[in-house]
Amino acid sequence: MSWLDLRRVEARLATRWLGRVLLYCTVTTSTQDLARREAEAGAPHGMAVLDDEQTAGRGRLGRTWHSPPGQNIYLTLILRPEAPVGPKVAMLVPLAVAQAVEELFPLRVGIKWPNDVWIGQRKLAGMLVESEIRGTETLYSLVGIGLNVNMDVEAVPELADIATSLRRELSREVPREEVLASLLNHLEALYEAPAEEVWRRWRERLITLGRAVVVRAGHQVTEGVAEDVDREGRLLLRCPDGALVAIEAGDVTLRP
Ligand code: BTN
Repeated sequence: MSWLDLRRVEARLATRWLGRVLLYCTVTTSTQDLARREAEAGAPHGMAVLDDEQTAGRGRLGRTWHSPPGQNIYLTLILRPEAPVGPKVAMLVPLAVAQAVEELFPLRVGIKWPNDVWIGQRKLAGMLVESEIRGTETLYSLVGIGLNVNMDVEAVPELADIATSLRRELSREVPREEVLASLLNHLEALYEAPAEEVWRRWRERLITLGRAVVVRAGHQVTEGVAEDVDREGRLLLRCPDGALVAIEAGDVTLRP
C-alpha cells in the first residue's frame, strides 16, 4: 500500500478551479465530515477533500460505503454554485467517472439510474450529495464520490457479487493518481457544459432504460418498465396498468 503521490496528480491536472485547493488525509470518518468542517470554515468553491481510508464511509439511503486503506478514491468536492445548478450535478458526476475510466482504459462503463456507475453487472462507483441550505439559498454542496480502484472486491463476501473495481476488470493494479486527475478534469469540463448536453450524454449511458425494473423509494415499491428520463433526471416508469409515473429518487433493481 502506498499513499497518493499528489505531484503525479498535479502533473496531469488540467482544471482551472476544481481540485486546485486539495486536502488529503490518511484517515477520516468520512470525507463528507471533513469537507463539512472545511466548508463551515470558509473553504473555496471547487476544493477537493480526499482521504486514503474512511472508518465510517457512507453511501446513499443510509448505507455503508466500504472504504479500506490505500486502494480506492474517496473524494468530496465542495461546491458553492452562484446559481442553482439543479439536477445537473447528479448527472455529471457519474458521467465524469465513466468518461475518465474510458479515457484511460479499454472498458465500457454504464450508469444505473440515478447515478451509480457500473461495469458489466457490477457497481464501480457511487455518489452522494449533501447540501447546506438556508431558506432558498444553497450555502454549499458536498459532492462525495467513491470509486473502487484497486480494491480486491472478491475478498469482501458482501461485495463480491455486486461490486467491482478497476483492478478486478483489468486484472492489474492501476495508478490512482491518473484516475483522480482524469476524473477531476472531466468533472470540471462537464460542470461548465450546458445542462442539456450533460443530460443527453447521461441519458445515453443509462443501462436502466428499456428494462423491466423494481423501484424502491422508502416503503413504496413500484414495478414497471423504465421508459425514459426527463430533464429533471426523473425516471419515467411505465406501470403494468399503462400509467406513466415520474420517480424522483429511489433504488432500482433491474429485472432479468
Ligand atoms: C452510493 O452509491 O451509495 C454513494 C457512495 C458515496 C461514497 C463516497 S466515498 C467519499 C464520500 N465520503 C463518504 O462517506 N461517502 C462518499
